[in-house]
Amino acid sequence: MVGKYASISILSFLLTWLGQRFTHTSEPRCRCLYGDSCWPSDDAFIKLAEQLSAPLIYPRPLALPCYSNPDSSACAAVHARWDDGTWRAEHPGATQHPNFEALITPSGEVDACYANSSIGSPCGQGSVPVIGVKALTLADVRITVKFAAEHNLKLVIKNTGHDFLGRSSGHGSFMLWTHHMKDIAVDEVFRPLGAPEGVYYEFALTIGAGVQWHEAYAAADNANRMIVGGISPGGSVGAAGGWLLGGGHSALSPTYGLGVDNVIQISLVTSTGDHLLANAHHHADLFWALRGGGGGTFGVITSVTYRTYPIVPTVLATMVVSVKSTELTDDVKTAFTELIRITTNLTDAGWGGYAMFDSTGDTRGFSLGALVPNVSWEEANRTIMPYFDYVKSLAMSLDSSDETWNGAFKVEGGTTTEWPSFWSLYKHLMPNTGQVGRNLELGSWLFPRDVLDGDHEHVAEVLLENPGLSYELIAGGAVSKVDPSSTGLNPAWRKAVVHAVFGITWPDGASAEEIQQLRGSLESKLTRVRALAPDSGAYLNEASLFEPDARHAFFGGHYEKLRAVKRKYDPTDLFLVTEGVGADEWDEQLRCRV
Ligand SMILES: Cc1cc2nc3c(=O)[nH]c(=O)nc-3n(C[C@H](O)[C@H](O)[C@H](O)COP(=O)(O)OP(=O)(O)OC[C@H]3O[C@@H](n4cnc5c(N)ncnc54)[C@H](O)[C@@H]3O)c2cc1C
Ligand SMILES: *[C@@H]1O[C@H](CO)[C@@H](O)[C@H](O)[C@H]1NC(C)=O
Ligand SMILES: *[C@@H]1O[C@H](CO)[C@@H](O)[C@H](O)[C@H]1NC(C)=O
Ligand SMILES: *[C@@H]1O[C@H](CO)[C@@H](O)[C@H](O)[C@H]1NC(C)=O
Ligand SMILES: *[C@@H]1O[C@H](CO)[C@@H](O)[C@H](O)[C@H]1NC(C)=O
Repeated sequence: MVGKYASISILSFLLTWLGQRFTHTSEPRCRCLYGDSCWPSDDAFIKLAEQLSAPLIYPRPLALPCYSNPDSSACAAVHARWDDGTWRAEHPGATQHPNFEALITPSGEVDACYANSSIGSPCGQGSVPVIGVKALTLADVRITVKFAAEHNLKLVIKNTGHDFLGRSSGHGSFMLWTHHMKDIAVDEVFRPLGAPEGVYYEFALTIGAGVQWHEAYAAADNANRMIVGGISPGGSVGAAGGWLLGGGHSALSPTYGLGVDNVIQISLVTSTGDHLLANAHHHADLFWALRGGGGGTFGVITSVTYRTYPIVPTVLATMVVSVKSTELTDDVKTAFTELIRITTNLTDAGWGGYAMFDSTGDTRGFSLGALVPNVSWEEANRTIMPYFDYVKSLAMSLDSSDETWNGAFKVEGGTTTEWPSFWSLYKHLMPNTGQVGRNLELGSWLFPRDVLDGDHEHVAEVLLENPGLSYELIAGGAVSKVDPSSTGLNPAWRKAVVHAVFGITWPDGASAEEIQQLRGSLESKLTRVRALAPDSGAYLNEASLFEPDARHAFFGGHYEKLRAVKRKYDPTDLFLVTEGVGADEWDEQLRCRV
């Protein structure tokens, strides 16, 4: 008996092994790109289109109309709305930062399509996928994923195109565009699949993959609820895509946690085209990995269910510090150094916000905008006013006889206002355009509380070597209270208080060498910044494309477990993104296994 069973199991083992070996050897080492002989035939695309609810799309770079007809109204719109993130998101070929539509070719040419068509001609397709699916339904997503897997295509999932690592574009790839999956529902009582009796959430918000923050905020507000989300002009960042998968920070995070701390359930299509729900009780390993594992790495999200909160009054604090100079003066540095010293206390008191340095024009300085929900106005004043008073005292100590304040220190604001809700202040204050439409690459690092509380003068000095610094108070507080092992998110987040971001920009028409040189200067500055907190890490969604140790920087001690979950749900690496889990087993273009 024992022998018989043993031989059967050896036989089945052998068969399994042979089978795996067969699939392994037959599995191509490289993806099929547009232009390769393996690229699907027109017939194959026609058959695909017949199964979908919308015609196939042929994404093109945003500025194309300015090459075909510079006098057209389409080209006029390109110029007029170039920095409108909501408008850019409506175009499948557009990324928010045009450099991710472009491509530096192996021979060192920049293949791009510029708004000013006299710079480069013709309009280059660059990194914009040539063909894709405008998904409207779950079935569309399943069919698209199966098609990409069957034809061994390089699949790019694109939502709004806000990505800073170019993860929503890719040369020669096939696009799955989620932007039009706009369903929104509020459940008064929401029970996650498989949850034990008695586990439920009140007024959970379920949104389709294409819903953007301005839509999610408005929907929550209509239901008399508040939701934790991202901040951008027009609220154009996706609420159920890359933001969440990478972590998702908000000015509300010091009080209510990150995006990954507020998601209840994720609906996903995996590499086999299967649909599943992941939450704390069902596919819990996948749910763990989706919360911070980043980008389109584990599958395609079709919808997300978030927790919501009762609406609470919110206090806003604003201040602008400036000097008429092209250098930062000691007073500005002192004002910023003091902000670093008190940052941990501010975030632990619930304050979240952004200190942003402006390095253009003939003034230098920074603006601080921060908010705290659900504390009384008195209490908010008690925690922030000492800082504003201190900064104002720096201005007072100067010789105020200089009426042009040339070289002197100027403080505007340094006041607080109270708002009925987070969304009311967001709608009122946030412009609809800006921050996008530039060639931009970032460098960033997360700052843990012990480093900020330590030698804040040195931290200030090194951070201020980066002229366009954005010093973001979006962790600490509630973010620090979550068990680091409970989500796949980089554990560095749980010790962090601040996300410091800076970057490089370049004009259209810059050569590959010029871009490379700027990258070098960014890297050397980032090396000094990292050294302030070498055990920390970086925020995957807003970071350098050239982290020397990406596994450590983006995933810390969670990398191996994330890799194992990916192997389980995506054994063929259909879903790969730059800097993502598994990506370093492929070449830089994510085309061939290395
Ligand atoms: C102006 C601006 C403001 C920002 N503000 C914030 C902020 O306040 N807080 C913050 O945390 N971040 C912020 N970000 C960064 C933002 O989180 C990232 O850019 C993020 O990648 C955007 O996700 P998306 O889905 O909107 O964009 P996309 O570029 O379309 O997608 C980004 C990544 O997510 C993947 N993806 C998208 N949808 C899906 C899906 N349905 N299934 C699987 N994978 C998917 C894509 O493949 C890609 O890898 C901001 C960015 C910009 C440009
Ligand atoms: C477009 O580019 C050309 C060539 O670089 C330049 O001379 C011209 O001033 C640019 N036009 C605009 C509107 O920026
Ligand atoms: C607001 O604060 C009160 C008192 O601390 C707390 O009971 C309540 O849950 C908070 N509500 C929200 C939405 O933060
Ligand atoms: C932070 O708050 C604590 C408790 O209120 C206080 O003792 C401490 O002095 C504060 N630290 C700073 C740097 O202001
Ligand atoms: C808080 O400070 C602001 C000034 O910035 C003031 O207008 C407001 O009256 C103060 N609120 C309370 C409740 O003290």
